[in-house]
Amino acid sequence: MSLSLILPRWYDLHAHFRQDDLIAPLVQAHLSMGCCGILAMPNTSPPVAKIFDTDSLPYTSLESYRRQLQDAANGLLETIIVPLYLTAQTTPQMIAAGAHTGLLKACKYYPPHGTTGAMHGAPLELFIQNGVLRAMEEHNVILCVHGEAHDLAAEKYFDEKTNAEDLFYREMLPPVLDAFPRLKIVAEHITTRTAAEFVARGPDTLAASITPQHLLYTVGHLLKGLRYHLYCLPLPKFSDDRAALQEAVLDKSNQKFFAGTDSAPHAQKTTDCGCAAGCFTGGIAPQLYAQAFEEAGCNLEDPAQQKIFAAFLCENGPTFYGLPVAQKTFQLRKEPQNIHTLKIGSHEIVPLPLGMRADMNAQRATLPWQVHL
Ligand code: NCD
Ligand code: ZN
Repeated sequence: MSLSLILPRWYDLHAHFRQDDLIAPLVQAHLSMGCCGILAMPNTSPPVAKIFDTDSLPYTSLESYRRQLQDAANGLLETIIVPLYLTAQTTPQMIAAGAHTGLLKACKYYPPHGTTGAMHGAPLELFIQNGVLRAMEEHNVILCVHGEAHDLAAEKYFDEKTNAEDLFYREMLPPVLDAFPRLKIVAEHITTRTAAEFVARGPDTLAASITPQHLLYTVGHLLKGLRYHLYCLPLPKFSDDRAALQEAVLDKSNQKFFAGTDSAPHAQKTTDCGCAAGCFTGGIAPQLYAQAFEEAGCNLEDPAQQKIFAAFLCENGPTFYGLPVAQKTFQLRKEPQNIHTLKIGSHEIVPLPLGMRADMNAQRATLPWQVHL
């Protein structure tokens, strides 16, 4: 008999579902991997940067984006959180009104021009000064941060001793924690030892999500053979950074680090002008997380270590967001699974493990684990 884990259904607390005809198949991929809840990123075009349909700003409303996701899920997702994209037009009044109706649970800080769809972001200082973070703190709205400093010279963006994420957690986030001690903050998709240690040592109001790719890979995996399907932001870092992430999730008392895949489909990854950032892991994330835990030295046959995995995948995230741990379960079985590209209309989306293959003619890749619902 192969090893099998029965786990509570889990929440993906950071994923991209795009828009229009892409939404339904992408939500289905999440349902197929045992998700009971999602936090759906607002970097659509236009971004989800107003709350109500009736607001006059030229953005997508949180109300309508949530409705579209709900329709796509056909009632099968218990929780859909859409964080409001923070822009220069966001006001404390919008935060208060959104929180009062129960629609607004979180807001997303994007470093201006820092990643896909981040051109509407505004500097963090603006939200410190204009009352937006204060209103979020008062109304228990969680701040999700893409933690990278912006506008950096290339030499500072990614260098031996410093990079954009490192600078963000050393210099930009500490003043926010000092000024707003009750504001709950999620350091999303962290990739560095600096961030992992900052979160571990920080107050209970601070937690972090970690993607499968940042637990599995380093920048060397991206560069060796230029496996551009691994190109995502923040970039995978060095082996010591990956070790810090692995230590954080394998700690038996871990309550601060949790799953958030950052699954980010791109039908076209490369052009002559560069590479779209984002790894697609819809449908396969628990499998990849289990693989990553094993590669980091976790023995998933041991019930005590299974508990550590379950805390990371299924418990810590919902608990931080004030959501119930799911009663319903799903099964992860240690049996090989073949995966293929996801075809949506004329789009073809390559899941990360297929993008990591060395033989470009191979039509499939194999995962060591399978999900059964
Ligand atoms: C995301 C995307 O494609 O929307 N890309 C990524 O590399 N993670 C944007 C983001 O979350 O940074
Ligand atoms: Zn993302």
